[in-house]
Amino acid sequence: MITVGSSIDTLLFSLFLLVASLMALCEGRSVYIRNDLRNGDFISVHCQSEDKDLGVQGLNYQRELTFPIKAKIFKTTIYTCTLTWNGRLRRMDVFNSKWDGKLGKDLKWSIQDDRPCLLNFSTKKYDLCNYIYS
Ligand SMILES: *[C@@H]1O[C@H](CO)[C@@H](O)[C@H](O)[C@H]1NC(C)=O
Repeated sequence: MITVGSSIDTLLFSLFLLVASLMALCEGRSVYIRNDLRNGDFISVHCQSEDKDLGVQGLNYQRELTFPIKAKIFKTTIYTCTLTWNGRLRRMDVFNSKWDGKLGKDLKWSIQDDRPCLLNFSTKKYDLCNYIYS
C-alpha cells in the first residue's frame, strides 16, 4: 500500500513538473510596440487576444509600449493590434504562438508608415520587415 501511494505521489509530482516547465516556456515574454512614423504622428493602439482586451493606449512618436504575453499551453494564442494614425486604421498580429521560430524571445515591433518591422536581436536593428498591415 505504501509503495502504491508513493508511486502515485511520484507520478503526480512528475506531472506537476511537466506542466510547470511547459508554463515556464510561455512566461516572461513581452510584446513591444514602438512609434517610428516618419512625420511624428501619434498612434492610438488597441491590442487584444481572444480572452484579453488591453484597452486603447496612446503612443507618441519614438515612444514604446509593452505588455506581457499570456499564452495558452494547448491552444494557439494570437494578439492582434489595431493601430490608428492620421485617420486611418491598420491591423496586425503582434504575437502568434505558432511563430515558433521566435519562441522564447520578446517581440519588438517598430511601427513604420508602410509596414511594421521586427527587431533582429543579432543586428539590434529593426531589419525584419517582411510584414504587412491588413
Ligand atoms: C538577423 O540578422 C542576421 C545577420 O544579418 C541574420 O543572419 C539573421 O538571419 C537575422 N535573424 C532573423 C530572425 O532573420
